[in-house]
Amino acid sequence: MAEHESREFGKADFVLLDNVSLEELLANLKLRFEKGRIYSYIGEVLVSVNPYRAMNIYGRDAIERYEGRELYERPPHLFAIADAAYKAMKRRNKDTCIVISGESGAGKTEASKYIMQYITSITNPNRRAEVERVKNMLLKSNCVLEAFGNAKTNRNDNSSRFGKYMDINFDFKGDPIGGHISNYLLEKSRVIVQQKGERSFHSFYQLLSGAPESLLRSLHIKKDPTTYNYIKVGGNVKSCINDGAEFKAVADAMKVIGFTGDEIQTVYKILSAILHLGNLTFGVDRDVIRIENSKVVSVIAELLSTKVENVEKALLYRTIASGRDIIDKQHTLQEASYGRDALAKAMYERLFCWIVGHINDTIDVKDYDSRVCGNNTVIGVLDIYGFEIFQNNSFEQFCINYCNEKLQQLFIQLVLKQEQDEYQREGIPWKHIDYFNNHVIVDLVEQQHKGIFSVLDEACMNVGKVTDEVFLSRLDNKLSKHAHYTSRMLSPTDKSLEFHKDFRIRHYAGDVAYSVVGFIDKNKDTLFQDFKRLLCNSSNPVLKEMWPEGKLSITEVTKRPPTAGTLFKNSMISLAENLACKEPYYVRCIKPNDVKSPRLFEYERCQHQVEYLGLLENVRVRRAGFAYRQTYPRFLQRYKMISESTWPNHKLQSDKDAVRRLMQGCGFDHDVAYGKTKVFVRTPRTLVSLEEQRTDMARKIVVLLQKVWRGAIARMRYRRMRAGLIILRAYRRYKVESYIREVNGRFKNVSSMKDHGRHVEWPTAPKILHEFEESLQNLYDKWWAWTLIKGLSPEEAMHVRAKVATLEALKGQRSDLGLQRAWEGNYLKRDSPDTASLFTLVSNQLQRKDKFMRVLFACNVRKINAFHRAEDRTVLITDRHLYKMDPLKQYKTMKSIPLYNVTGLSVSPGKDQLVVFHTRDNRDLVVCLKGMVPATDSRIGELVGVLLSHFKSEGRRLLVNITSPVQCSMNGRKRTVTVEPKATQLQPDFTKMRSGYILAVPGN
Ligand SMILES: Nc1ncnc2c1ncn2[C@@H]1O[C@H](COP(=O)(O)OP(=O)(O)OP(=O)(O)O)[C@@H](O)[C@H]1O
Ligand SMILES: [Mg+2]
Repeated sequence: MAEHESREFGKADFVLLDNVSLEELLANLKLRFEKGRIYSYIGEVLVSVNPYRAMNIYGRDAIERYEGRELYERPPHLFAIADAAYKAMKRRNKDTCIVISGESGAGKTEASKYIMQYITSITNPNRRAEVERVKNMLLKSNCVLEAFGNAKTNRNDNSSRFGKYMDINFDFKGDPIGGHISNYLLEKSRVIVQQKGERSFHSFYQLLSGAPESLLRSLHIKKDPTTYNYIKVGGNVKSCINDGAEFKAVADAMKVIGFTGDEIQTVYKILSAILHLGNLTFGVDRDVIRIENSKVVSVIAELLSTKVENVEKALLYRTIASGRDIIDKQHTLQEASYGRDALAKAMYERLFCWIVGHINDTIDVKDYDSRVCGNNTVIGVLDIYGFEIFQNNSFEQFCINYCNEKLQQLFIQLVLKQEQDEYQREGIPWKHIDYFNNHVIVDLVEQQHKGIFSVLDEACMNVGKVTDEVFLSRLDNKLSKHAHYTSRMLSPTDKSLEFHKDFRIRHYAGDVAYSVVGFIDKNKDTLFQDFKRLLCNSSNPVLKEMWPEGKLSITEVTKRPPTAGTLFKNSMISLAENLACKEPYYVRCIKPNDVKSPRLFEYERCQHQVEYLGLLENVRVRRAGFAYRQTYPRFLQRYKMISESTWPNHKLQSDKDAVRRLMQGCGFDHDVAYGKTKVFVRTPRTLVSLEEQRTDMARKIVVLLQKVWRGAIARMRYRRMRAGLIILRAYRRYKVESYIREVNGRFKNVSSMKDHGRHVEWPTAPKILHEFEESLQNLYDKWWAWTLIKGLSPEEAMHVRAKVATLEALKGQRSDLGLQRAWEGNYLKRDSPDTASLFTLVSNQLQRKDKFMRVLFACNVRKINAFHRAEDRTVLITDRHLYKMDPLKQYKTMKSIPLYNVTGLSVSPGKDQLVVFHTRDNRDLVVCLKGMVPATDSRIGELVGVLLSHFKSEGRRLLVNITSPVQCSMNGRKRTVTVEPKATQLQPDFTKMRSGYILAVPGN
């Protein structure tokens, strides 16, 4: 059942009609046609109405909508049928076929092309080159076959004048790997004559309008088709086909398929030779037959690569071997014309068959090893002429209508009978539905000895002069009692039949009167052996290849070739056998009107087609008992959501029980029968209701699925995030632990190391441990310092404290802080060894007098005072005073400043030994240490450190400035001291400058 369409489009499946009647069926068909719905179903049979306008329903998007879908999931479409056939083939490894039938112009060929387009579009997703090649060939073959096998008729501008069955072979993956085309009964009489308003095969007109001048010249032909007798009827007929453009397209397609340049040229030569043949006229001159326009003969000879005299002879004489004698028998005028036309028809037919054969050579599956590649399966597409009833029906219509009888027979067997058989197989009680089985008509035509073909063959075999009339009377004799056969002799009152000329067959599709005129000739299809020999002896190898039987020697007794009727009958029987072993899909094409209108729905025309296509019977049988059937598992799969007992999975014994429970739950039990493997639903309404409930539930299920799925996604995301976090944490812990382990490892033995681990490099700490690392390093530093100082004597400890103070105050601001050497404090012993004892004496007296505890620093200096006088002095700093002494006056104290009056020190950032002691009363002492041994000693660091450390121990502050120039205050006056190194300076000395002093020091 097709996807629900809106009510306004009618019923997509005729099975769903409320009443099955011809009127309702046609009304529905009309409604759908008018609403642009050209496709409908009868179960799995597609009914197609020719829209006679371009429909926007075959594009890529449509293909995607149908690909892989079940028939009932989408509105009816050719693509759905093609997909069903393809799926059946792929899933079940079964050969399938699509039988397209309908009358001329109903849209069979278009349908077959859309099917091919669909199949080639959905296959070969991996774009394998070999498969693409095959697909291209299959598609290109259409264009070539249509050029040579189609013609404009009064019913169809592009009417296929041959039957076509095409097999497409697929490998186990479902990709096309080749194909094979069978052609049936080309309407070759069209080569020599057409009805008014019709044309011969497209190929002639394409050559005339498309070939370049040079080619036309070499073929000796003119552009104007009315020059040629064989095609002049249709010469001026307007056709929607662009012959010129098609010529090019066909030539290109032929090249792609693999026709060589020579082969294509030969094709053109044959077409031209046929056109020239049609212009040959015969005359009789004193009982001797001759060709009136012998120039044409030489052109034909040239085109066919034969000798002129041979062509002429073959056209005028017939070689007869009687015993050992060979006689040339001259043709009558009538025979000569007949021979000429027969040659033209035969050449064209051979050409067509040769082209089909050539295409087959390139697309046939070669080297397929089923052991390696799996089963090779087939989809067959049959596009064959539909039923024909004309004013005058001849042998061709008889064959074509017989073909349709065969196909109808197949349809009955496969669809109608199969349907009834299925009920039986499934054990469903079933009331037989009567439908007309046309077996009897098929027999009427093809039965051995009694059938029309047999009677015709017998008549043709007779040596005497058997006429069409005699053949008719033999038919009358043999078939007088047959319910489907009649003639004027048998029903004298039937004026629609002519005596001795017509017979009528009651076909399944309607009554058709055939005129027997030409039956014998057409069935014999004689082509004089001379022509075969002529063409076989051509020096053109392609032509030679087309006529292999011309090789036979003249005297060789040849078996009579099978008649056209027998050939056709046999090909139909084998076609029917071929189709019968495949799973069939049907496309029933309907032609809505005769005027190619996209709007007109001619009721009677359509009614007639609906009748003879047996659509109503098809619907009836389909609905007789049951509109719908499905295997239990598939039925459950589609409808299980309707019932709680089956959703999401049933717990019953079997699927059959589950379906029963579902149906009972819905109250449909009375409308359903349970077969062995399938459930059968009687009325379409039940199915519609099931579908509606399903759609209803589907919405809820979708919401549920969405809910569950969204939950699942959220949970998944949460779990992933949590996992991420755990990993992150574990990683961090690992990093921290490994840092600590590393630190531990590196510093484990530092206490026993000489430098207590000072050289040990710290590992890089993770960012998160930044503060911790700082504290740790601090801790280590403290430990290290403690380790260093814990063994020091109080004096050493004092020195260390002083050095630390220096470092804190001057680090990075002065270069040589003297930290590396031992600090002696009192340098007089070293610098002035001669007077050191005197100094000690003075210092001891001062100690007694001023009660100081220890000497912090003592050194010789150069000083400058407020009166700008520079003099040598000695500075002694104790823990209580700063003494300025004159070394030249036995270290007489010139000035003593209590340390609590000293507020700060100023030094320069240079290497000089300048120091300013700032005092509370602004009488700063400006000195430069000098006379040091060694002379390069730097003692400013020590002086600053010792004083700072001492001040600190007393809880007082001492400011230390590092500036350049150094600032000082002389009796309250601000002065600057600028240090200037001079190469010639031996000892540091002060000189007065405008706003202060210059201290010249040795150096450069
Ligand atoms: N699906 C379609 N969409 C549009 N136009 C279509 C469609 N089917 C058929 N036609 C039109 O109808 C014309 C005849 O169709 P087509 O040649 O397929 O008929 P046919 O059944 O093969 O006839 P014949 O038996 O004479 O070969 C096409 O040339 C085209 O103009
Ligand atoms: Mg066709």
